[in-house]
Amino acid sequence: MWWQDAVVYQVYPRSFQDSDGDGVGDLRGIAQRLDHIASLGVDALWISPVYPSPMADFGYDIADFTDVDPVYGTLADLDALIAAAHARGLRLLMDLVPCHTSIEHPWFRAHPERYVWADGERPPNNWVASFGGPAWTRDPRTGRWYLHSFYPEQPDLDWRNPDTVRAMQGVIRFWLDRGVDGYRVDAIDRLLKDPQLRDDPPATEPYLLPLDEEHGSLRHDHSRNAPDIGSALAAIRAAAGDAFLAGEVYLPTRELRPYLEHLDVAFDFEFLHAPWDAERLRASIAAALEVRDTAWVLSNHDFGRAATHFGPERAPAVALLLLTLPGPAFIYQGDEIGMEEGPGGDPPLDRFGRDVTRHPMQWEPEPLGGFTTGRPWLPLVDPQRRSVAAQEDDPRSLLYLYRAAIALRRQLGDGLRFEDATPGVLAYRRGEDHVVALNTADEPRPAPPAGELLLSTAGASGGPAPRELAPAEGFVARARV
Ligand code: GLC
Repeated sequence: MWWQDAVVYQVYPRSFQDSDGDGVGDLRGIAQRLDHIASLGVDALWISPVYPSPMADFGYDIADFTDVDPVYGTLADLDALIAAAHARGLRLLMDLVPCHTSIEHPWFRAHPERYVWADGERPPNNWVASFGGPAWTRDPRTGRWYLHSFYPEQPDLDWRNPDTVRAMQGVIRFWLDRGVDGYRVDAIDRLLKDPQLRDDPPATEPYLLPLDEEHGSLRHDHSRNAPDIGSALAAIRAAAGDAFLAGEVYLPTRELRPYLEHLDVAFDFEFLHAPWDAERLRASIAAALEVRDTAWVLSNHDFGRAATHFGPERAPAVALLLLTLPGPAFIYQGDEIGMEEGPGGDPPLDRFGRDVTRHPMQWEPEPLGGFTTGRPWLPLVDPQRRSVAAQEDDPRSLLYLYRAAIALRRQLGDGLRFEDATPGVLAYRRGEDHVVALNTADEPRPAPPAGELLLSTAGASGGPAPRELAPAEGFVARARV
């Protein structure tokens, strides 16, 4: 299967490349920058939603599943982008958002039965939305309560209604028929809830993944991840055929299994949230490998930037880690040049504080970063300090390391076996021939024995692998000494 060891590049369309000067990135902009994506050596790009949307959740609130929002272009632009990607050997994944629509989707009025409703003076239960606040809002027109796992502008679809399922299957086929190669499937642990709408019990211990404080005060036994989730997933799979499906399942790694019976892979969020600590990383990688078919990701448009989370000086080692693990890896646009989180909008645009990880891509070392000629929807962070153009031909740059690591990744053997190493050092073998070592400690540490150096965060290659690793230093080397 093409995706088995694929590298997928996430494009956040609003912030990638603006082609018409309105300050918002668009499809033609993505097409203009496809050569950059191809130059990384990745297999595919995933584009976050570009469907018509009132943008309460910047496109994750969809008002029409089978069209393109004018701010991003037209259906014809999307067709052209798909063709241009394919011409470069890149597959294209869309974002499928099956759990909810925008409150402005015509279905909400024309087909209210496709959504989850409750009657009464008060909300039917204590469920809390992911972004905090009650998960129920009263519809002023009908006086009934509708469920929303996210913002109130995003009413949840009722996947227990066969008509909803059929409608969404049509959506899935629509884009596949236009040539897309698969989907990243949004918030999929939210598809089915308890049909009796029972209360969620209070949380008695901390959850394994970070949650909004109010949302985390409950154990989500009934508001998500229903035991019969497989039936909804099977319906998605039936419509998708053998197209690639990567699930955003915000659950601890060991709970991903039922999802993987139908999806090809699921992101491993324990890994995304793991601290820069060899032992903890090792435990998280081991847990994922045991479940199998997880996808590696360290940054995205929701959870911040790897360079900020781990510290900018660690970005090269983080890249080496992400790109030398077995199984698909996802890169968030801008991570290849070490972009850090920014100040966000003033006033903030996303109510949940995610502007910081959505600043425009920095192409050129100039004030607007080559992103737009207009007023950018979010300010640029530091294009004069880091940009694609400035790193393009510099063999010591992070961009160069990304390209080299993606190329080298193709030669790594199957599987992963941890090597014994000094505390603070994460070391593993890929196949019989390659060893990867990373120092997560703040002091130099002895490196595991290795042969010829193939790639190093210190910029060197060729010659023997180093005997000692500086803090945040890592390498890939031949295993034979
Ligand atoms: C996913 C998306 C996020 C969005 C949410 C609701 O988690 O990644 O951006 O807000 O779903 O659709």
